[in-house]
Amino acid sequence: MVQSNHTHAPRPVPSPYTGRQDIDLDVVREMLSHFTYNDHEEAQELILSACQEINEHFGWVSPEAAEIVAEHLGTTTTRVFAILTFYADFRTEPRGHHHMLLCHGMSCYVMGSNKLVQTMKDTYGVADGETTADDQMSVQVANFCLGVCDRSPVVKIDDEYHGHVTPESLTELVNRAIEGKHSMQENEATHG
Ligand code: FES
Repeated sequence: MVQSNHTHAPRPVPSPYTGRQDIDLDVVREMLSHFTYNDHEEAQELILSACQEINEHFGWVSPEAAEIVAEHLGTTTTRVFAILTFYADFRTEPRGHHHMLLCHGMSCYVMGSNKLVQTMKDTYGVADGETTADDQMSVQVANFCLGVCDRSPVVKIDDEYHGHVTPESLTELVNRAIEGKHSMQENEATHG
């Protein structure tokens, strides 16, 4: 369930991140073929769910995918983009190979999460919603609790939670995640 940027209601933790993904438009068409409707009104009600499904599958919704949604549901790409930018959980750019959810909920805030936000800016040049220049790490600052306050401040990198994080341990965690990706790439290159 996506939540509006314009509400302070608690938000669910996003579904597990499976790495950077390019959007296969044939897969998008196949997904949309399951969205059937009887009239224009019903079609309009399906726009949000269609975008949500694409976003959950690929981690983002490209302009081309938005265009296909618009065509399929008889609306304009502008309207689809208005929805994508209204809800905080939608992304209109691909994430990096790794994704960090940096908890900025009350307990983590009290325990110094803003130092972690600052470390990401100072060391890697990334703020909330941005991806490092080498496409390795995307950062999302979560203004909601990740549910493990006893380990505040908390960051989640890909599917793993890390607690009691300090600026020093944060850079270690980021470097380790990025290096892991590099060695995987080297392995793939070596073993074809
Ligand atoms: S506020 Fe960060 S885990 Fe609860």
